[in-house]
Amino acid sequence: MTKFPERVFSGMQPTDTLHLGNYLGAMVNWIAMQETHECVYCVVDLHAITVFQDPDQLANNIREVTAAYLACGLDPKRSIIFNQSQVHEHAELAWVFNCVARMGWLNRMTQFKEKAGKDRENASTGLFVYPNLMAADILVYKGTHVPVGEDQKQHLELSRDIAQKFNNDFAASIAAHGHGDQFFPLPEPMITGPATRVMSLRDGTKKMSKSDASEMSRIALTDDSDQIAQKIRKAKTDPEPLPSETKGLEGRPEAENLVGIFAALGGTTPDAVLKDHGGAQFSAFKPALAELAVARLSPIAAEMRRLLAEPGHVDAVLADGAERARAIAAPIMRDVKDVVGLLRAG
Ligand code: TRP
Repeated sequence: MTKFPERVFSGMQPTDTLHLGNYLGAMVNWIAMQETHECVYCVVDLHAITVFQDPDQLANNIREVTAAYLACGLDPKRSIIFNQSQVHEHAELAWVFNCVARMGWLNRMTQFKEKAGKDRENASTGLFVYPNLMAADILVYKGTHVPVGEDQKQHLELSRDIAQKFNNDFAASIAAHGHGDQFFPLPEPMITGPATRVMSLRDGTKKMSKSDASEMSRIALTDDSDQIAQKIRKAKTDPEPLPSETKGLEGRPEAENLVGIFAALGGTTPDAVLKDHGGAQFSAFKPALAELAVARLSPIAAEMRRLLAEPGHVDAVLADGAERARAIAAPIMRDVKDVVGLLRAG
């Protein structure tokens, strides 16, 4: 079996301002992975256009998500940070994968069914083949580890299926042309734990989401201190005081969510939070949570504002990242063409 060097790949869509759920659920992990791995972090703009995006807004959102990456602590010297459309190998490999993946596989994707809704006939064909592009994103770097949320697990499994089928379909050519016994690694999902699942501030049973109509349901990374405090003050709760153990959070989704956010922001556990705050009313707990949230998040918002005031810097980070990404992706794509027979080396 070929042993592939470990490489992390992940991406977020530039469709809206990032929020606390993205930060605690994904970004915190991405930042930590920089310590141990070579990481490629992408702003997946080609994924964004699978549903119509206003062009001016898209252009702004690409910069804004990049600024959020940097403000949260992704380091453009250590990691590769870029936007997907600038490295054409993503789209090129995605086409090859469109020809590897099967209709039946894509027909099973639950996210397509959700996003397309009742009007399937009117969904873009890009939305249907989106998971093939996601597989290409990862595999054009021979990525081995992919930190993603639970909702992307099925797409990751599809990426593995595509890698496996490519390796099988082209096994003879891979071997004959000196590309080892396995061309692509099977990328592993690193599913971020339930402790970091951030729920809506208006409904503890729903994920915090950029598509929720209510701004009050989420804390945006661009919110200022007053907005953060206000959203926490108004967050839905129940009338009981906090329990002193996590068992007491069962059946109390809003309480569980606020305790979970407190723990994640404070770098501790829900048990530890309840040890300190068990028995407290929300009227006392919420100001403590607001203070912690402001302390953790307002420097990020401030740094984003600073970065967005000088878009030249953000653009330079993206240009440099794209160049370094291409340096990895181009030779792999050349090998893909060799294996498939599109362009034979030598
Ligand atoms: N589909 C992912 C999402 O919506 C974003 C994404 C695109 C991605 N390509 C990726 C994530 C590759 C991980 C790896 O969240």
